[in-house]
Amino acid sequence: MRKTVLFTLVILALVLTACGGGGSSEGPDAANGEKLYNQATLGSKSAEGCASCHNMDASEGDETDAPFTAGTATRAESRVPGLSAEEYIMESIVNPDAYLVEGFEAGSMYQSWGDDLSEEQIADILAYLVTVK
Ligand code: HEC
Repeated sequence: MRKTVLFTLVILALVLTACGGGGSSEGPDAANGEKLYNQATLGSKSAEGCASCHNMDASEGDETDAPFTAGTATRAESRVPGLSAEEYIMESIVNPDAYLVEGFEAGSMYQSWGDDLSEEQIADILAYLVTVK
């Protein structure tokens, strides 16, 4: 009986080590971010998803509703002096009106992603967008 308990504990310890402690401590997941970005609706209020406004490029439509997704990471590097690409993209998601892309008006992007999405979801979307050069 004792042996069985000990054996179980050893296996449990091995499994936990293999999972790196398990759960969400594995860092942002760009593949999940891409999935979230392309969902029709997103977040706790089921607001229109990112890709319903942001077309990837001209093959999907125009830039009437939002700038193309393609090139986001490249543009983000120099949009706002002093902000890295990551910082700019993060700001664009949680505080979209802080910097307005030329040709767009304040309030045209959904304003509540910072409240509607979990920190993990935002981190995943950010991890995806920094790869879209
Ligand atoms: C209702 C339409 C709409 C939705 C939905 C939307 N956006 Fe936007 N987004 C815009 C508009 C319009 C702009 C340009 C105006 C501005 O700078 O805020 C923009 C700008 C951006 C920019 C900056 C682009 C650049 O070239 O500088 C990023 C990054 C971005 N959005 C990410 C997202 C993400 C991520 C989501 C989903 C979580 C999302 N957007 C959902 C309309 C939208």
